[in-house]
Amino acid sequence: GGVHHALKHDSAHKHVTGEAVYVDDIPAPANLLHLAAGQSARAHAKILSMDLSMVRQAPGVVAVLTAEDIPGENDVGPVIHDDPVFAEKVVEFIGQSLFAVAAETREEARRAALLAKIEYEDLEPVLSVGDALAKENFVLPDHVIRRGDSKAALDRSQHRLSGSLQVGGQDHFYLEGMVSLALPAEDGDVQIWCSTQHPSEVQHNVARVLGRPSNAVTVDVRRMGGGFGGKETQSALFAAIAALTAVRTGRPAKFCVDRDDDMIMTGKRHDFRIDYDVGFDDDGRIEAVDFMQASRCGMSADLSGAISDRAMFHADNAYYLNDVTITSHRCKTNTVSNTAFRGFGGPQGMVGIERVIDEVAFALSKDPLEVRKLNLYGGEGRNITPYSMTVEDNVLPEIIEELEASSDYARRRAEIRTFNASSPVMKKGISLTPVKFGISFSTKHLNQAGALIHIYADGSVHLNHGGTEMGQGLYIKVAQIVAEELQIDLERIKISAASTGKVPNTSATAASSGTDLNGKAAQAAARTIRERLVAFAASRYDVKPSEVFFHANKVQIGPQTISFDELIGQAYLARVSLSSTGFYKTPKIFYDRETASGRPFYYFAYGAAVSEVMIDSLTGEHKLLRVDILHDVGRSINPAIDLGQIEGGFIQGYGWLTSEELFWDETGRLRTHAPSTYKIPACSDRPEDFRMKLLESGWNREDVIHRSKAVGEPPLMLAISAFLALSDAVASVADYRIRPDLDAPATPERVLMAVERLRREA
Ligand code: MTE
Ligand code: MOS
Repeated sequence: GGVHHALKHDSAHKHVTGEAVYVDDIPAPANLLHLAAGQSARAHAKILSMDLSMVRQAPGVVAVLTAEDIPGENDVGPVIHDDPVFAEKVVEFIGQSLFAVAAETREEARRAALLAKIEYEDLEPVLSVGDALAKENFVLPDHVIRRGDSKAALDRSQHRLSGSLQVGGQDHFYLEGMVSLALPAEDGDVQIWCSTQHPSEVQHNVARVLGRPSNAVTVDVRRMGGGFGGKETQSALFAAIAALTAVRTGRPAKFCVDRDDDMIMTGKRHDFRIDYDVGFDDDGRIEAVDFMQASRCGMSADLSGAISDRAMFHADNAYYLNDVTITSHRCKTNTVSNTAFRGFGGPQGMVGIERVIDEVAFALSKDPLEVRKLNLYGGEGRNITPYSMTVEDNVLPEIIEELEASSDYARRRAEIRTFNASSPVMKKGISLTPVKFGISFSTKHLNQAGALIHIYADGSVHLNHGGTEMGQGLYIKVAQIVAEELQIDLERIKISAASTGKVPNTSATAASSGTDLNGKAAQAAARTIRERLVAFAASRYDVKPSEVFFHANKVQIGPQTISFDELIGQAYLARVSLSSTGFYKTPKIFYDRETASGRPFYYFAYGAAVSEVMIDSLTGEHKLLRVDILHDVGRSINPAIDLGQIEGGFIQGYGWLTSEELFWDETGRLRTHAPSTYKIPACSDRPEDFRMKLLESGWNREDVIHRSKAVGEPPLMLAISAFLALSDAVASVADYRIRPDLDAPATPERVLMAVERLRREA
């Protein structure tokens, strides 16, 4: 049951049978109130008046809450305080919350919320990245990362090209929507069960809203039905409304957000515009590059600063860029405030450079893979990132070599060319792309974690840590780590809900670092108890501490062996403390914004994928025919979980780049707010031939828990290979002579438009 075993998810069975308890499954407490929010109907307007009398009189309504009912601060912003719970004078996007209705049933609350009479005076909205750039409407200041003199180097390059790429956003589409249940407690305190990746931030934000200290609020999270970054900051709004209602009415209150409302009211992946100007030599070696990245942040800052930074940190992906300038604009628009989403800006940055590599190859009529290999980090003086971090652990040459051979890339590419030459309608494409993804929060202080372990007198273990479970398998991995440390079966360890009452001041479970951080903290806690047990056993049995071994639920103490339970029972009677906290902070990392340099990441995670697609050039529809992945998770703590993360990450990335399209109309209303108009991948979209492998020699040169590597986000970016394979298929219709210039998402419509343009120009 210890580490390096392929074990199924601890809740796999419960997920499938429906026994897993999510917040909405918690048996309803007596007198439960249900919540809905009144939403802004305008993208940008002054609120002239708000008449809520009809809302108050509607059947079942018990309370209506507005900004005036907030005893503390009217804000749930995570970094900057620019996210009101209820808009007061101005509304800044359609769907922004204005007030809340508490009613006896959810239906009644939702119906009543629609009865408000609100007068607006419209202000001019900014609805697109282009518009925000033109008006210099930003949520945060620009940031620039620069090395050398890219302008001069561009001018003297042998070849030069420029272009622009749109990369779409993405809705999280977690199966369980936003939900919070708040129970009023003594003295105006409140207990909250919330679907959030960040219990501590929910606690701190709710306390601020209530005007109370953090110790008045407790937040518990057993599991989420998916978070994907969407529940890193934005759960706080719903938790705050539920808590406020509970405290105001003295009744328990639940805010279980309807799917459409969830999609309208919560932020998404940032869509980006990326402009590039690249200089390169005859072989395709990049000599200079300028990137302009503009991200749609929406109406507030949320995490957009760190997300836009990460896009910049991944503008190189796996390639050495000598003279380089990366400029980032954080655009303010009158749309919902965008937030974390698996990859956290990294994917958008990476698509930019991967597009550039394809363009260079295209211009020189080379296989893009050749250009990729030529530009990889490695060799004399070619291992330093634009932000001055040395790439010490690059395993990509090895990964690409193995994957190129195992996927039969060269032969299949040649066959595809032959196929396309004789197939007028159906066209195939192929692409191999690498991923190099930085692991750590780029905000240094977030890289810390705590754990709490109790061993009860019967030998059973209670495990708690600051990480949250959203399906990614964090809980079983940490339990395996503790089982390893104590040399006991996994079944003896009770995995318990994250709770701000047990482990304080935690970071969001995010940046893929859940296991790295909480695994180390839990290991430290288990180790502390084990050391106490060793000292106790040694003195009790009069042996040296070095003669005490834990193994297979037993403890060998000199010549004799007793069971783990026996030792615990004896330790209890001898008054040995059987409870401990553990703490961990990531070493080595720092980043200096002034000089835009440092080591923001403890290490990198690597992988590569080959995707083969087929398009119908008359409809633009496509199919993923085959995908080969080789991914480095270091020494895997749980290969079954890791392969699940790789598969899920790839498919989610594939949805982002090929089918999930967000559409706002000219008034700023999101028109894609249900599965009828927003298409995530279905089971049938999985490639029939899907070959995933973990890098066998996987190892972490840094002292990361059991030499593993983070896996949560990196595989999402492997799907860039599918996007570029589509682009390759499109290029075939003009015999690879005209740049395909495909934007993301490459929906059937976009593929068809690209095909038709190429056919016209050919
Ligand atoms: N996997 C599942 N099943 N559900 C999720 O919500 N979130 C992803 C990833 N994998 C997610 C997931 C995101 S955005 C992150 S940052 C990591 O899991 C967080 O968990 P970890 O740090 O434990 O890997
Ligand atoms: Mo993941 S986007 O860091 O929650």
